[in-house]
Amino acid sequence: MSLEALKVLDLRVAESTDELRAMLDAYRTDGGVGRRMSIALVPTMGCLHAGHATLIREARKLADTVVVSIYVNPLQFGPNEDFARYPRSFDADLEICAGEGADMVFHPENLYPEGGPKLTLKVSELGDVLCGSSRPGHFDGVATVVSILFNAVRPDIAVFGEKDWQQLAIIRRMTTDLHMPVDIIGVETVREADGLAMSSRNRYLSDAELRKGHALSAALLSLQSLVKNGERDVSVLLAAGLRVLSDAGIEPEYLDVRDATSLESLKNLNGNSARAFVAARVGPARLIDNLPLESV
Ligand code: PAJ
Repeated sequence: MSLEALKVLDLRVAESTDELRAMLDAYRTDGGVGRRMSIALVPTMGCLHAGHATLIREARKLADTVVVSIYVNPLQFGPNEDFARYPRSFDADLEICAGEGADMVFHPENLYPEGGPKLTLKVSELGDVLCGSSRPGHFDGVATVVSILFNAVRPDIAVFGEKDWQQLAIIRRMTTDLHMPVDIIGVETVREADGLAMSSRNRYLSDAELRKGHALSAALLSLQSLVKNGERDVSVLLAAGLRVLSDAGIEPEYLDVRDATSLESLKNLNGNSARAFVAARVGPARLIDNLPLESV
């Protein structure tokens, strides 16, 4: 996008950490209002959709300055995953950022030294379950890049989507364990009209596959409605969800009920923080979704 077009959008784009710091320091000190300005960060990998837009809108409500980062992080992709073909739509992304009132976009070409970083974060068992079991190292890559983004932006608030609940739980835990002074805000999953969770990877799907993908949220809703009717036995809940998936011709990578914070497996619902999680391959895409089971 040309500089002129960016001026029209009233958006500043930083392509390196140094450039970003210089821009942010001007905002941070007082921004003309005689007080310290608060900064919210919305980390993304681009190819923005209505889910990301909702995160930016939420950030806009919570802070004086909103920074959206757009960076497809190589460290969180496995060797056989879709890093090289991950969808990119930078100009359209800028329009969405501007439309939602973001002030700045951080779009670095690379955040790592040549040859890769010599130091990374290691996530505990929180990163080994659910998506972590089929994507070893994925959450180490996520935690590492998010900590780099936090160091570059030094935000007061960072906004993440509940669609990636495990990621959100890990980032919350990271800020606690590493004493990071950032408030983590979770935003409810934004869905298509039929319930399918919006995802940049939905772009890989045909219309028929998108319809099939709807079964993921339908399966989670079937668990939710059983819980509303008093069912507490997780094996009964899972059996019902698996039927919904198999009726749609989907064999999930996992369908699971776990504690929302510790991500520990549950056999019965006794407290008030159980959540249902599903992942499945539909056509060329790996889709994930989750819903709360208790306090619904
Ligand atoms: P990405 O998949 O681009 O998602 C960026 C943010 O948007 C995440 O917090 C994600 O949970 C949120 N999001 C995606 N789809 C959503 C939906 N349908 N409703 C609500 N929020 C949604 O997640 C990542 O990028 C990366 O792992 C990142 C955190 C940027 C680190 O590289």
